[in-house]
Order: sequence, then structure tokens, then C-alpha cells
Amino acid sequence: MKIITRSPGETEEIGLKIGNILKAQRGATVCLYGDLGAGKTTLIRGIALAFGIPERDIGSASFVIVAEYETTPPFYHIDLYRVERENDIDDLGIWEYIGSGGIAVVEWAERLSELPEDAIKVRMNYVDENSREVIIEGINEKDWHNM
Ligand SMILES: Nc1ncnc2c1ncn2[C@@H]1O[C@H](COP(=O)(O)OP(=O)(O)O)[C@@H](O)[C@H]1O
Ligand SMILES: [Mg+2]
Repeated sequence: MKIITRSPGETEEIGLKIGNILKAQRGATVCLYGDLGAGKTTLIRGIALAFGIPERDIGSASFVIVAEYETTPPFYHIDLYRVERENDIDDLGIWEYIGSGGIAVVEWAERLSELPEDAIKVRMNYVDENSREVIIEGINEKDWHNM
């Protein structure tokens, strides 16, 4: 599925729709790919909103690699931007969050050494100042259109 968004708000709406689909599942992993500024964190703000997490609570990577929210199911925002090597990632213990029955959303997911089989993959590409391309893999189009 390929979508063009024309503003950060439109990207958040796509995220909210993904989040609402995830709510029907018990656990889920969403892997995000795309350069700095592609809109990964913006999309996650929308996903998080579906779980009742206010947008302002979702931040960009500083020193925090895993931000945990005590929602039901628990929500984990994982940002691997500051992690250099796969080995370091395995040392962080993030496999306790991914595939744990919670919702794990992972920025810079290309740095993971492996992925759960049913992971949803979202690639984001810069188009121009206000537009981004969002390519979603792993959500069935029928579920998408029924939302
Ligand atoms: N259509 C759009 N979708 C998402 N972000 C956009 C869009 N247009 C402009 N932007 C801007 O691009 C930046 C995206 O930043 P962010 O979501 O932190 O990206 P990333 O997490 O991929 O580094 C924000 O400053 C946002 O306002
Ligand atoms: Mg980000």
C-alpha cells in the first residue's frame, strides 16, 4: 500500500489508522524505515494516539532508546538511531519488548538483527517539504478500507 501525505497532520492520521487496526490485535511490531526527517516519529504520534497516549508524550531520540507507556496493551517506542551495531542492540534487552504481547514501534528497524514474522513494515520517503510517501506492508488492504 502506498500513500502520499501532504502535511504532518495527514501522516499522523495514517498513524492513527494503523494504531486502530493494531488495537484489534494482542501484540504487534511495527518496523519503521526512512531517513532522518522522513516522518517516522510523526507517524508514531498517530499510532500512539490510538492507545490514548498524548502526541506531546512521544519524543525523538535523545538518550532514550526505549520509551515505555503503561497502556493496555503496553506500548513501546524504540528508536535505534543512536545504536551503532547489531551486537549493541542485542545487549539492550529490547527483545523483551518486541514480540512480548505489547505494541512495539521501532524506528531505524534496519538495525535489528531479526524481525518477528508478522511485523508490519512502514517505509517513509521524503517527497518535498510538506509531502511524504508512506509505504505499508503487512496490513491487509481490506482491513485498511474497513477502518
Ligand atoms: N507530510 C509530512 N509528514 C510527516 N512529517 C512532515 C510532513 N511534512 C513535513 N514534515 C516535517 O518533517 C519532520 C519529520 O520529522 P520526524 O517525524 O521527527 O522524522 P523522523 O522520525 O523520520 O526523523 C517534522 O519536522 C515534520 O513537521
Ligand atoms: Mg524519529
